[in-house]
Amino acid sequence: MTRRSILVGTGSALPRTRVSNDELAKRVDTSDEWIVERTGIRFRHIAEADETTGTLAADAARHALAAAGLVPADIGLIIVATATPDNTFPATATKVQALIGAPDCIAFDVAAVCSGFLYALSVADSMLRTGAAKHALVIGSETFSRILDWEDRGTCVLFGDGAGAVVLSAEEVADDRGILATRLHAEGQYGDMLYVDGGPSTTGTVGHVRMQGREVFRHAVTNLAAVLGEVLADVGLSAADIDWVVPHQANKRIIDATAKKLGLPAERVVLTVDQHANTSAASVPLALDLAVRDGRIRRGDLVVLEAMGGGFTWGAAVLRV
Ligand code: ACO
Repeated sequence: MTRRSILVGTGSALPRTRVSNDELAKRVDTSDEWIVERTGIRFRHIAEADETTGTLAADAARHALAAAGLVPADIGLIIVATATPDNTFPATATKVQALIGAPDCIAFDVAAVCSGFLYALSVADSMLRTGAAKHALVIGSETFSRILDWEDRGTCVLFGDGAGAVVLSAEEVADDRGILATRLHAEGQYGDMLYVDGGPSTTGTVGHVRMQGREVFRHAVTNLAAVLGEVLADVGLSAADIDWVVPHQANKRIIDATAKKLGLPAERVVLTVDQHANTSAASVPLALDLAVRDGRIRRGDLVVLEAMGGGFTWGAAVLRV
């Protein structure tokens, strides 16, 4: 028997307001045609004043708990991956704890931007396997709309707000269910290719997203294809064994190019970037929840998750659901 982290529930939450490319084009010098052709994005959800990273995360967590058949008191660990916390401190994870009514447990945030959910999943997996908790909530939640420069058409059209959550349970298993491998990377020398030009310790302001789009694109395809190869090699499997890839939803062209590099057919790739745009740390768990709820991802499937983001940071996970 092996102790593994088993995926027992998923959930997600989106802000009430959905904005189309055409609506965006009324206030930014852009067009539906340009955005769809370069990115595949058609819509994004934008948070209203009463919707925050914390409230969206709590909603996603409630849905994931319901899907898992668990209650807040069962949870021993809450990790929120976010680059847009409600406050500089306390951690948004503690806000989620309070909002859902979970008693004393471990709660903290992880900051790895778009690959934050992969980092959080890997940390939760390690903690569950070493006995720190029995059940964990791992959440990716963002309100990137708050850190966008709405005058910069090169970035503001690309992002959206939302949250996704999973519940992991530590179980002794005799089969190959659960998280089988995770791989994480960071190369901080590329920090200025995708960053926010503010922060508590530098400017004392929140700042705005800045990006060298072409460089990000190039690194994303190379790094994502490489890390997928690594994580599959870790478990002795190949691309042909994968039932579903749930990629970070930054850009359809990055997703297509990565799948092509690995020889993965488009039918096995979960795509939500058209509906949600890039929701950073929320994008992988949001897409995962959609594909679980619409019946594409079923028990027994081999699922691969991957993401890359500011830092640069990137990572992948392979799990049997
Ligand atoms: N609408 C219309 N025109 C635009 C827009 C817009 N929203 N944005 C830029 N343009 C113009 C530019 O001004 C430029 O015009 P010019 O030739 O007259 O100077 C032209 O379009 C081309 O601009 P580029 O930036 O060179 O366009 P490119 O083909 O590189 O596409 C894009 C830009 C979509 C950002 C692309 O580089 C990309 O997808 N990069 C990946 C970045 C990404 O996904 N980041 C997300 C975060 S990182 C992550 O999650 C992996």
